[in-house]
Amino acid sequence: MEVVVCKSKEEASALAAEIITKAVKKNPKTVLGLATGSTPVLMYDAMAKAVKAKKVSYKEVKSWNLDEYVGLAPTHEQSYRYFMNENLFKKIDIKLSNTHVLNGLAKNPEAECKKYERDIKKAGGIDIQVLGIGSDGHIAFNEPGTSLKSRTSVVYLTPSTIKDNARLFFKGKEKEVPTRALSMGVGTICEAKKIVLLAFGKNKADAVKGMVEGGVSQFCTASALQMHNDAWIFCDEEAASKLKLKDYYAWRSATKLQG
Ligand code: F6R
Repeated sequence: MEVVVCKSKEEASALAAEIITKAVKKNPKTVLGLATGSTPVLMYDAMAKAVKAKKVSYKEVKSWNLDEYVGLAPTHEQSYRYFMNENLFKKIDIKLSNTHVLNGLAKNPEAECKKYERDIKKAGGIDIQVLGIGSDGHIAFNEPGTSLKSRTSVVYLTPSTIKDNARLFFKGKEKEVPTRALSMGVGTICEAKKIVLLAFGKNKADAVKGMVEGGVSQFCTASALQMHNDAWIFCDEEAASKLKLKDYYAWRSATKLQG
């Protein structure tokens, strides 16, 4: 696990976007795994800037998103499909038909999840998986207590995630937040060839500490990334503030990124 400690979220987002831009330039058929939430927004802006500047094209890229709320239509403003369309897909030249988000209205959610897994495999697997991290250490919606080998399935949100995400719903009300989601599993995520996780702000410091320096445990599902051999964690100073070896990670990753 490589921890890149940046002065700001802007710097971290630019570095992470650069990794994706370079990968897509090298392989125009890159398969991306994408995340929603507040964290990747600046990175998506930087990716869009690179497209506008004609540095890269996403015409042949395919994408699969991590998760979707059960019960929300793709047109619902808080659905993750809507989020992706607004925050990334409309701003780059990706074909909408090449973008995939789990269907929160699927009549048979388990079948929808199985098909999602099959489709990812058919596409050759995910080359780069973008992740955020929940304040409880979740990746995608894999809450504490989820098997580290889990596959895409219907999951149940913790009260703390419902509270964190209520800010985006009608009047910030927790009762507006769906209690279930369809989510890629930890096992599914860990099969990506490369992982790029972003974490910003002091609200994420405990989760980052658990992910990087805690034991591998289903209590902090992000800790499974310790077992991945190409996982890059881009944090700002606040998110990295509880790491014992923060200065060492910063020096090591800076040296690797330069080389
Ligand atoms: C989003 C996702 C979640 C978020 C996490 C952090 O698709 O899977 O794991 O990455 O909840 O959310 P933000 O970025 O809003 O703090």
